[in-house]
Parts: sequence; C-alpha cells; structure tokens
Amino acid sequence: MARILVIGGTGYIGSHTTVELMQQGFDVTIVDNLSNSSIDVLDGIEAIVGRKPAFENIDCGNYTDLDNVFSMYTDIVGVIHFAASKAVGESVEKPLLYYRNNLGSLCTLLEVMKQHCVPNIVFSSSCTVYGQPDEAHLPVDETAPIQKALSPYGNTKQINEEIINDAAHADKELNATILRYFNPIGAHPSALIGELPNGVPQNLLPFITQTAAGLRKELKVFGNDYNTPDGSCIRDYIYVVDLAKAHVKAIERMLTAKDREQVEIFNLGTGNGLSVLTLIHEFEAATGVKIPYSIVGRREGDIEQVWANPEKANRVLGWKAGTPIREVLRSAWNWEKHIRNL
Ligand code: UD1
Repeated sequence: MARILVIGGTGYIGSHTTVELMQQGFDVTIVDNLSNSSIDVLDGIEAIVGRKPAFENIDCGNYTDLDNVFSMYTDIVGVIHFAASKAVGESVEKPLLYYRNNLGSLCTLLEVMKQHCVPNIVFSSSCTVYGQPDEAHLPVDETAPIQKALSPYGNTKQINEEIINDAAHADKELNATILRYFNPIGAHPSALIGELPNGVPQNLLPFITQTAAGLRKELKVFGNDYNTPDGSCIRDYIYVVDLAKAHVKAIERMLTAKDREQVEIFNLGTGNGLSVLTLIHEFEAATGVKIPYSIVGRREGDIEQVWANPEKANRVLGWKAGTPIREVLRSAWNWEKHIRNL
C-alpha cells in the first residue's frame, strides 16, 4: 500500500488526518518535532486504528534529517504538510520565528521531495488569506481576492501559497493541493485524540470547553457591535474529522485523477456561518452545560464575518462537511472531559 508522509502528524488536524488515512488503508509516517504536541497522541491513534503509524521525531526544517526520512521510507507517494507555528498573537511578537519556521520548512520539504522524486504535496492553508471579503464575495469561494495579511502568521500562509505556485511553475512534475481551512473544531468521536492547546486557549471552542470544565471563570466574547445579526463575529466552524476526510480525498485525487490541474485550491468549510453567541448557545443546548460569559471589546485584527462557499470541494473532491454542529460540540466536550478526568 502507498505511504503518506504526514508532517506535523501528532498535532490537532494532523492526528485526525492520520487516523482517516490509516483507516482507508494508507501507511503513514509521521514527522513531528513535538514542539506543540505530545508523543502520547500516537497511543490515541493506535487505540482508534489498531496499529501505530511510523514516527520520526525530527524537525522538518532540517534538510539532512528530512532527507534521511525520505531515504528510509522509499514507498512515500505523497506528503501532507501540517507543521507550522499558528498563534496569531505570538506571530506579531516573534515575526522572524514565524517566517523561519513556516517558510523555511516548506522550502526544505519541496527540495527534499524533488530530490527523492516524490511529486505530491497537500498544504494546510487558511481562510485568513481572504481577509474580510466584501459582501459580493460572501460566502467566499476560491476566486475571491487575496488581501493583505493582518499578521505575520497570515502572511506566512500567503507566501507559502506563492512558494508552491512558483515551485510548480518551475517544475512540471510537482503536484500541489492547497487546502484553505475555515475554523476547525471538535475531536474524534472516540475522545482518544483532540485539540491540546498550550496554556490559555486563544481559539474560541477550547476556551468554551475549558470554561465548561471549570478551568476558566468565564468566556470573554470579543465584541457585540459588529454589523451582524446579533453583533458578534461570524465564522464557518468545520468538524476536524470532516476536515481530515477531505485530506484523504485530496490525496486520492492526486494519485488517480488524470484531469487535475498542477496546483489546485479548495476551501474547506461547511458553507454555514455561525456567530460567537450562537456557538455558545449551541454548545449549551448540545451538552446541557451553561457557559458563563461577558461581552468585552473587540479583539484587534479580528475579521467581522467570513464563511465558505465549499462548492468546488463538494464537486471536485466528492466531499462534504456534514456533521451536525451539536454532535461536533459534544465531541469537543467529551474530549475535554476525557483529558480532565471528569
Ligand atoms: C484564527 C486565525 C486563523 C487561524 C485560526 C487558528 C485570523 C484572522 N484568524 O481564526 O487564521 O487559522 O485562528 O489558530 O488570524 N473569540 C471570542 N472569545 C475568545 C476567543 C475567540 O469571542 O476567547 C471569538 C473571536 O473574536 C472570533 C471567533 O471567536 O470572532 C473565533 O476566534 P478564533 O477561534 O480565535 O479563530 P479566528 O480568529 O477566526
């Protein structure tokens, strides 16, 4: 069977994708330096799938180490590159770290792939590349204009997309699929893998589940004076397992489709926008747990509203994010209870 190299495979989206790949019969080698994830994730994957993925604890920015991995596993047919620093606020404070980590690792990876004649890469990008789309571009599809990034993190996603386009232009053997994620949430239904934020969560749902678990006193809702129906921001929250399945579809398409373009881009979202306040109320309805919250000022750099038009991914990949939101929210809560022994 074909082997997929999953870089950043012990991370949140990487671990869920590894599970889906292995369940579809792929062999997986994970490369991760564990800078923002735990080795225990491998046990969770094994408990779900019944076998462990191969694992190499190296930094994917190190050419020699990555080259060795490609020499060891000669059956690699494709790479999924998740590994990146992803805290928006931290990227403003440490831009050089972000540019080095997120740009350097992609360049190294593309060089090593070429060296070993591995032609297929799936890259994790973000809806952040669209900034705040104007009304005519909501829901946002892949043809919407890219806007100037609001943070170094967002800028690394834009530049990485350009690097991939330029590399593919120069090397006709290279195939790339760029996946622009909207807001991934939730955990595997087994509650054996999920999101493990470092310190105080910056993202909404981990903050909600930690508040539900009593670790945080209350959730702060960043602004209720936006131009939206209830005044809070709107996002497209996509279940991480649905998102993981899209990666399998993307890989399968790269390995089999005759009619694909050299670089393909897909928005991965549900097509539904939910406000912050709606998400809180849905969480309460799904779990029966009340979330204490207060409204505070806007968070700098926040986009008012963005949600996906996922039609291209639905049609071309034959994929749809269909898990009902309450089931997704329950999965996040079950995971939080699991890790807190509640
Ligand atoms: C951000 C990044 C995105 C990145 C993602 C994952 C931007 C514009 N977006 O998404 O690129 O991929 O993180 O790290 O850079 N909220 C609260 N209270 C909280 C936390 C969040 O009200 O304690 C609100 C936010 O104001 C926002 C919504 O919840 O309206 C979602 O926030 P968050 O989960 O941080 O994701 P994004 O900012 O959409």
